[in-house]
This record gives sequence, C-alpha cells and structure tokens, in this order.
Amino acid sequence: MSQSFDVVVIGGGPGGYIAAIRAAQLGFKVACIDEWKNDKGGPAPGGTCTNVGCIPSKALLQSSEHFEHAGKHFADHGIGLSNLSIDIAKMTARKDSVVKQNNDGILYLFKKNKVSFFHGRGSFVKAADGGYEVAVAGAANETLVGKHVIVATGSNARALPGAAFDEDRILSNDGALRIPSVPKTLGVVGSGVIGLEMGSVWRRLGAQVTILEALPGFLGAADEQVAKEAQKAFVKQGLKFEFGVKITGVEQAKDGVKVAYTNAKGEAASLAVERLIVSIGRVPNTIGLNPDAVGLKLDERGAIVVDGDCRTNLPNVWAVGDVVRGPMLAHKAEEEGVAVAERIAGQHGHVNFNTVPWVIYTSPEIAWVGQTEAQLKAEGRAYKTGSFPFMANGRARALGDTTGFVKFIADAKTDEILGVHIVGPFASELISEAVVAMEFKASAEDIARICHAHPSLSEATKEAALAVDKRTLNF
Ligand code: FAD
Ligand code: NAI
Repeated sequence: MSQSFDVVVIGGGPGGYIAAIRAAQLGFKVACIDEWKNDKGGPAPGGTCTNVGCIPSKALLQSSEHFEHAGKHFADHGIGLSNLSIDIAKMTARKDSVVKQNNDGILYLFKKNKVSFFHGRGSFVKAADGGYEVAVAGAANETLVGKHVIVATGSNARALPGAAFDEDRILSNDGALRIPSVPKTLGVVGSGVIGLEMGSVWRRLGAQVTILEALPGFLGAADEQVAKEAQKAFVKQGLKFEFGVKITGVEQAKDGVKVAYTNAKGEAASLAVERLIVSIGRVPNTIGLNPDAVGLKLDERGAIVVDGDCRTNLPNVWAVGDVVRGPMLAHKAEEEGVAVAERIAGQHGHVNFNTVPWVIYTSPEIAWVGQTEAQLKAEGRAYKTGSFPFMANGRARALGDTTGFVKFIADAKTDEILGVHIVGPFASELISEAVVAMEFKASAEDIARICHAHPSLSEATKEAALAVDKRTLNF
C-alpha cells in the first residue's frame, strides 16, 4: 500500500526541509524523506549544512577563535592566562551537540508543521496516476506517491583524481571537521571557502597550514581589493599559500600524505603533511535517486536541469539547492525551497539571485552582495566607489579589530547600489543592511542619510556610502 501526498520532498537539507515546512504552511499534505544518519543510526535531518557544513564549521571557527583570542589578544586587555590548553575532544563534542540541537530542531519543526518524515533513501520508481511513485528504503520502507516532487538531494565533496577520501589522512569537509588531534602539519588543496575556513580553524589551534591553489590568484569571485586585504591578513596570521599549482599525485604514507605538484614556475615540487584537506568544489548529488526511472534530465555536471523557477523537464517535479545550478549556499537553497512551495500553491515565489549574499567566516570575515568592479567593467557599466576603513571606526578600535573596510559600488548616474564588499569584523552581520538596501533598489545616498547607532560597526557602512559622494565625516 502506498501513501499519497500533495508534495513529496526528497532530501532534508536547507533546501528540502524548508520547502517541506513552507508547503505544509500553505495547507498541503507533505512528506520529507532524508537518509542522513547520526552516529547511532538515527535520523539527522538538516543535510550537509547541519551535519558537515555550515553549522559544525561555524562551531569550530568559534572555538578556535576563542583559543586564538585567549592566547594572542587577551593580554592586550590586561587579562593574563597561564597554561592555556585546548581539549580537542571537548571542542568536538560541543560541535556535535550544536549539530544535534539543529537536527532535533528540524524534527520538532516537522511535527509542529505536520510534515511526515521518512528516514531512508528516496528513489523514483515511476510516474504514477496523478503524480510520481517514490520508494523509501532504510529505517522507513514505504512507497509514497506525490502529486508534486521536490528534489533537494544536495552535493558531495569533489575528490582529486586518484586520491579518494579516507577521512583519516585525505579529508573532505566531513573528516576536516573531526580531526582527533591538532596535526603538526596540514595541507589544503583549494583556497576556496572551505579551504580558508577549515585552514583557519586548524591554524588557530596550532597546525602549520599550507594551501595549494590551482589558480594564479586568490578568491577570484570576491572584489579584488577585498581579496588582497584578506590574503595579507591570512598570510600575517601564518597561513601559507602556493598559487598556480598543478597537483600531479597524492601518495599515502604510514604517518601522513605526500602531495606532488608542479609549481607556478613549472618546477616539480612536493609537500609532506600529516593530513590533507581536499576542498576543490562540490558535485551535485543524485546517487540513489534513480532519475532515469522517470526520465529526469541531468546536465553534463550531473546537476538536475531546471529553469529559473526550479522546474525540471518533468511536469510537477521541481529541484532546488546544491543539486541544481547557481551558488552552493544554504540560504540560496532555502529561498528556492520557499519559492517552489509557493509556486505549487499558485503563488508567485521569487528568488533574486542578484542579492544572494556571500560570507566567508574567517578572521577577518569576508562578505559581499551584488557585483564586483571586475564584473561591471566587463559589462561596460559606469560606476563609482566609496570605501571606509574599520581603522577609523570607534567600535572597531574598542573591539581591537580594525582590519579591513566596507566598500560600496554604485551606478555612476543613478547612484543605485550595485555591490557592497566588506572585509573585517562581523562582515557576516553587516552585509544584511546592504542586501536589504539592494532589494529595495536603494541608492548609496539613501544609506548615507540613515541614522546608524554610535558606536557601531554599521557606521562604517554609512561612511562607505558617504564616501561614494566623497563626503566621509570620520576619515
Ligand atoms: P544538502 O544540505 O546537501 O542536503 C541534502 C540532503 O538530502 C542530505 O541530508 C542527504 O542525505 C539527503 N539525500 C540525498 N539523496 C537522498 C535520497 N535519494 N533520499 C533521501 N535523502 C537524500 N553554505 C552557507 O550558506 N553558509 C555556510 O556557512 C556554509 N558553510 C559550509 C561549510 C562546509 C564545510 C560545506 C561543505 C558547505 C557549506 N555551505 C555553506 C554550503 C551548504 O552546506 C549547502 O549549500 C547546503 O547544505 C545545500 O543545501 P541542500 O538542501 O541543497 O543540500
Ligand atoms: P570553492 O569552489 O569555494 O573553492 C575551490 C577552490 O579549489 C578554487 O579556488 C579552485 O580554483 C581550487 N581548485 C579546484 N581544483 C583544484 C586542483 N585540482 N588543485 C588545486 N586547486 C584546485 O570550493 P570549496 O571550498 O570546496 O567549497 C565548496 C562550496 O561549499 C563553496 O563554493 C560554497 O558554495 C560552499 N561553502 C560555503 C561556505 C560559506 O558560505 N561560508 C563555507 C564553505 C563552503
């Protein structure tokens, strides 16, 4: 006997679980299938984000930042500490409990919103009368029929050819989040978001970290000035970078890993490290989904093909999040999930890809929204810029964290904000004002004329907006 639903969601990460909740709020009978298991084999909804991504990485970033502050910066405040130590097992247990709180929170939200949760792997069986049949295999073994199906099966880490993840010496994001003791030496392949965040965690805890990057430059997607400022800060902190490398081999030894590569000059080189994190991007995940059973179309990267509204090639089958095109970000997945549920209800769900913020939770933090100067130059669009350094901000001085700046890019004629780029303290929080401003198509002058609390870091945002018109007050 199969169970029938208006909406069956496959995948309980931020794209899937949020889509399920929104669909239930809109009055649909909803099922959500997720296969993630906790260490006891029980359900652990929340996907990559909750289990091995956003949440645990931020927990470790916080712990390691406390450790670095205690060791390097408390003395500036007159606080003395002796015998500072770090208990990695305790730090990891704290991280795991933060993850569990989030898993449990999602199960609670499913109950509250009357979403039926099925713990297991969902696979397409066939098109059924008035919908699609989806088999669940795992703790739950059921057949569900959904009038609509939303696929939100996420992504997996990409491995280097010939160097499969063993999560002991060669680590994906999963292993990188549970290294049992601080390695003396840690190699990272890829200086993208994961490389910088996880490299920072283990560097702060005492590892000597070397990052090997294929591209000749640093953080190509970020504003050039922001990338330069961040790179300077990371190098000062002790992260070692080598750019323009081509990895030629990864060899496991008893006590570590040896990476062979050619450097930017074309010379053969090698790096011997205790452990190696490989963070060279992620691939869309459709393992076990059985898309061929219903003729669901994938592209050459393995992503489910969707239009701008997350419609697949099949009627009433939708796909959201990392398994489709676009940035692999939790909040982008959530926005798509909400929009799809609303479209199923006949509403006009909407995702503005131009105002999806990016945040890198290093120290300094990096955050941006909208376009960079390089993109605007390539488009031939005339623009003006204004920047304000945290060095000239009273709150940043009081915090003892004056690295970086806020930078506005506005249309040369209309003054509409086209991009905001921040490197510095709490950039992750400051960027929200810029996102709101851009959603409302604000001008730089609009922000410049708004009263901002004093002393606050947000005054740097106001001042950067003033700088577009060359009238900063405090710099
Ligand atoms: P996922 O979160 O991957 O969820 C997919 C779910 O579907 C999983 O639970 C999986 O088990 C399940 N599943 C797959 N196939 C099936 C099936 N056939 N049947 C049943 N279940 C299935 N993004 C940010 O915005 N901010 C951050 O700070 C951030 N930090 C990150 C840090 C790391 C280390 C990593 C790796 C990623 C980070 N991301 C961050 C990216 C973010 O995690 C992803 O963009 C987000 O999780 C994508 O959500 P999703 O719902 O599309 O997929
Ligand atoms: P990434 O795309 O951010 O960076 C990958 C880096 O690896 C790039 O710089 C690329 O040039 C380099 N690279 C690729 N192949 C290489 C090779 N063979 N040798 C050396 N370098 C190579 O990917 P990453 O860091 O794996 O993260 C995946 C995604 O997860 C991110 O793009 C992001 O969408 C998401 N994420 C988001 C976070 C956040 O929002 N704070 C945090 C962590 C991950």
